[in-house]
Amino acid sequence: TGAVTYDPGFMNTANTTSEITYIDGDEGILRYRGYPIEQLAEHSTYLEVAYLLIHGELPTRGQLDNFSAQVERRTLLDERFRRLFDGYPRDAHPMAVLQAGVSALSTFYQDSLDPFDEEQVRLSSVRLLAKMPTMAAYAHRIAQGHALLYPDNRLSLIENFLRLTFGFPVEEYIADPAVVRAMEQLLILHADHEQNCSTSAVRLVGSAQANLFTSISAGIGALSGPAHGGANAAVMEMLNLIRDEGIDPRDYMEKVKNKEDGIRLMGFGHRVYKNYDPRARIVKSIADTVLERLGVNDERLELAMKLEEIALNDDYFVERKLYPNVDFYTGIIYKAMGFPTQMFTVLFAIGRLPGWIAQWQEMIHDPDTKIGRPRQIYTGHPERPYQAMEERT
Ligand code: CMC
Repeated sequence: TGAVTYDPGFMNTANTTSEITYIDGDEGILRYRGYPIEQLAEHSTYLEVAYLLIHGELPTRGQLDNFSAQVERRTLLDERFRRLFDGYPRDAHPMAVLQAGVSALSTFYQDSLDPFDEEQVRLSSVRLLAKMPTMAAYAHRIAQGHALLYPDNRLSLIENFLRLTFGFPVEEYIADPAVVRAMEQLLILHADHEQNCSTSAVRLVGSAQANLFTSISAGIGALSGPAHGGANAAVMEMLNLIRDEGIDPRDYMEKVKNKEDGIRLMGFGHRVYKNYDPRARIVKSIADTVLERLGVNDERLELAMKLEEIALNDDYFVERKLYPNVDFYTGIIYKAMGFPTQMFTVLFAIGRLPGWIAQWQEMIHDPDTKIGRPRQIYTGHPERPYQAMEERT
């Protein structure tokens, strides 16, 4: 079988070539299809970036209008499917509800499951983009014990999502385009990040020729972990703890450095970025805008800034090249918008969806794709004879 390379966490193993996202972790650079993240966050919309990631080029006006119309008219869920959401317990984690919902798309939309039929893949892609925000909103409404609303397709995808989530009256959101715009920007910042854990999960499941819905539901499962997408919620819990228990930020940082109870500064550090995460820079400025627009004064923002300042001037963090990542400031914005902490990772999932779809499609079309099947180095017992029950100690 030849020599096997031991590479836990795939630190040095490229599983694919890819034309989608470029990261230079040392310089802190992120580009989708060649376009700098800063320019996309400033000028484009969520669906425009989704089109770019999936099709490889920025859409013309006509292409974008057509694509948006395809997506926006599919936000409704089949009525029987919608009723599934009534059955989940009220304290269910919204990520679990979302994952189950996306997985169940395979049962209701069976006419778009063939990974090798281009039209079916196109249809399953627009269905996901359209229906995942609806399901995410429903996951939130269940937790609140509120009725599930129907989408209003006169609204844009993101306006609709906010309306479905927060219900009526929505005028305060829709009337404040700055807040809707901030939501779009945050989703754009999360839209792809090359071969991260959840994207690799999507590709791995897809490499077995499982359908797109099933592959994406695996990605949602991976994203729910606190070391990945769950970090934005973990940051909030950390800030709440420091605030509520009146801990001095300097004392907390000492604990982190001494690795007491294995605690880490959540929202800091990244496998690839060994510099300031370019997304975190943009998120920080969105935080200022949104808090001001909504008239929110959240002491956790000052607390987070204090922790960052301590870290950036401390040898422990400097030597290990630990900087704020995208999750460090997002939670403060989501809170100001009215999302409970449990919903943060769900928002990450909506953001990452276009990237998952683009990566899955690239994988399916790549002639080099093989079923993902890592090797191992066996460290167990050598051969030994079966022991009868009465001989075991
Ligand atoms: N706080 C304190 N120490 C840290 C941190 C942190 N946040 N992150 C890494 N370190 C230390 C770690 O203890 C180790 O030190 P030592 O060499 O003394 O053992 C060194 O830095 C290298 O860490 P690592 O765990 O080997 O690095 P990794 O590339 O495996 O981990 C990470 C990357 C993101 C999992 C990690 O930095 C971390 O746990 N951060 C906190 C969680 C977080 O914010 N995750 C979100 C990641 S970005 C969004 C996403 O991808 O979902």
